[in-house]
Amino acid sequence: MVWKWLGALLVFPLQLIYLVVKAAVCLVLPAKLRDLSRESVLITGGGRGIGRHLAREFAERGARKIILWGRTEKCLKETTEEIRLMGTECHYFICDVGNREEVYQTAKAVREKVGDITILVNNAAVVHGKSLMDSDDDALLKSQHINTLGQFWTTKAFLPRMLELQNGHIVCLNSVLALSAIPGAIDYCTSKASAFAFMESLTLGLLDCPGVNATTVLPFHTSTEMFQGMRKTSCLSLTLMFSFLYCSILPQAALEEIHKFSGSYTCMNTFKGRT
Ligand SMILES: NC(=O)c1ccc[n+]([C@@H]2O[C@H](COP(=O)([O-])OP(=O)(O)OC[C@H]3O[C@@H](n4cnc5c(N)ncnc54)[C@H](OP(=O)(O)O)[C@@H]3O)[C@@H](O)[C@H]2O)c1
Repeated sequence: MVWKWLGALLVFPLQLIYLVVKAAVCLVLPAKLRDLSRESVLITGGGRGIGRHLAREFAERGARKIILWGRTEKCLKETTEEIRLMGTECHYFICDVGNREEVYQTAKAVREKVGDITILVNNAAVVHGKSLMDSDDDALLKSQHINTLGQFWTTKAFLPRMLELQNGHIVCLNSVLALSAIPGAIDYCTSKASAFAFMESLTLGLLDCPGVNATTVLPFHTSTEMFQGMRKTSCLSLTLMFSFLYCSILPQAALEEIHKFSGSYTCMNTFKGRT
């Protein structure tokens, strides 16, 4: 028994080294793309911004069906028409992901009209873009309901069937701000950090579930309406990209100096958001 335990203890670090080397090699090798021809993809917030780009990308890569959720019918309709012109079956549903009952009802309507969803992209989010004391309480709650809890409800609605089919993927469009917060967007940073923990826990919970996986994406600033007006410098980009690495090494005072130098302390002063 002791020998078995000692053996496992010796093999464990070797296993870790093997996995790190394998991941590093996979980073430089071209990725094997998944065949999407049998997949039905649901994108929350798919009417505009990154969600719309993802819809185009999924269509180009041969997804069987694309389903878009959002609150603004005009954008959803435009994107749906664009995707249909590309030759891909596409449907849209009006749904506020921050409203639990609406999510469950719309998910039922999707299953009845379109069938099973095998890829869920949790992309919808909002940013209030203010400090804690300048924020209205309801606006603070709204960001948490949409950006974090919305993912609980959509995942609960679609994951059970993915587990039954042993085919599914939950994707979360998160943000680098989940790991490296900035002032002036306290609602957003908190909701994204929370969504990050949600996905970590979900991903680990799916380890024993064949055919079902989860992926978190952490984009940096992207030109959409979401962060309109935010001042962006290359220094800021580097700071945000690496601060989650060095924040565990450097003292807090040094970290604060780096953020001041890079402009991340004031980048939200010019924020306008979507009008
Ligand atoms: N832009 C960036 O710099 C950036 C950087 C890092 C990460 N991200 C992340 O990328 C994702 C997409 O952002 P984006 O830049 O494309 O933002 P965007 O242009 O503002 O689009 C946000 C999308 O979410 C939808 N949405 C918002 N609230 C919703 C709700 N309650 N229910 C359903 N849909 C809702 C919006 O549609 P309706 O308004 O019609 O509902 C819209 O389609 C977000 O998760 C964001 O946090 C963005």
